[in-house]
Amino acid sequence: MTSAPAPVLAGIDARRLGQIEMGDTLAARNSRLSAGDKIAVRIRRSDGAGGQAAYQEFQVPYQKWMRVLDVLNWVAENEATDLAYRWFCGSKMCGTCAVRMNGREVLACWEAAEPAMTIEPLRNLPVIRDLIVDRTPYESKVASLEPWLERNTPYPPFPEPLNHKQMKDASKALDCISCMCCYSACPVIGLGNLTDFAGPAPLVQLGQTALDPRNDPDKVKRSLALTGIFNCVSCYKCEEVCPASIPIVSRIIEPLKAKAAQLLPDMAKHSFALRDIVADRGRVDPGALMLRVQGFRALANMARVIRLLLRRKINPLKTLLRTRTEAAEAASRILDRGIAK
Ligand code: SF4
Ligand code: SF4
Ligand code: FES
Repeated sequence: MTSAPAPVLAGIDARRLGQIEMGDTLAARNSRLSAGDKIAVRIRRSDGAGGQAAYQEFQVPYQKWMRVLDVLNWVAENEATDLAYRWFCGSKMCGTCAVRMNGREVLACWEAAEPAMTIEPLRNLPVIRDLIVDRTPYESKVASLEPWLERNTPYPPFPEPLNHKQMKDASKALDCISCMCCYSACPVIGLGNLTDFAGPAPLVQLGQTALDPRNDPDKVKRSLALTGIFNCVSCYKCEEVCPASIPIVSRIIEPLKAKAAQLLPDMAKHSFALRDIVADRGRVDPGALMLRVQGFRALANMARVIRLLLRRKINPLKTLLRTRTEAAEAASRILDRGIAK
């Protein structure tokens, strides 16, 4: 008897399943274009001197295997010699060519050209000119986090007794090419100064050493205190766009949050309160959460409280009576309340 063929999905990255279903893979996109076809390209242009940004349109002749970078090169060589954009390695190594194409963050040197393209600079960073952004906010944040090793024990003899398990998260972070695609995609960074969140790219840089077991915990604590890490809402937008396929949330941000909860429990006040409330009541109780985190200061903004009441976001009666759902017992069993506080 012959064995059944292996499932077609074996070996496929689960994060790409949506692309496969929507016919949005590289092969599918390439098959929609033939050599000589005209690609309709819109590029967002600005002078960087505060002038109004505008979209300029170009018709670019398609050549087989054309990438977004090839399209930009064609435009710069043939129609807009003053077009400003960055690239260096041309092979997904340096991270300098990141732009937004049709609303998603991509590496221009790696992304296939599409029949119609709108190319824009990355978000959440000041634009210097056309597609060039100022990397200073990212680089100064990374520098402030001091992402290097400080040991509190002497060097052991060479080679160091480190194993894969100890380095499993830090080693993922080492794949980062600092392209800032994730920083541009992060909705919390998009809120600007409303939070003190460092952002996914600086956290990945910090993860390279903060998740290394050789690092001094006091040094890691100092760095984590500057990250505002609990502002991350775990929406996974950063992971979706990372060209290096780094599991940013599950392997970098979540382990860093766990470290912060252990080293700086005050930072995790909101998370601990949420955990206790769910374990106690089997549900999220926003009213109780507000009171636990902000105390009676939560009542100072009456207009907000009334808005939340009208939208039925909070129910004071349920909060006061500590109403429990059927899931309370299971929730309390599942959530280990013995975590250090
Ligand atoms: S998961 Fe966190 S870091 Fe990533 S995009 Fe969402 S809020 Fe930003
Ligand atoms: S984590 Fe990924 S998306 Fe973010 S800067 Fe590094 S390589 Fe780019
Ligand atoms: S040019 Fe270096 S990553 Fe694209």
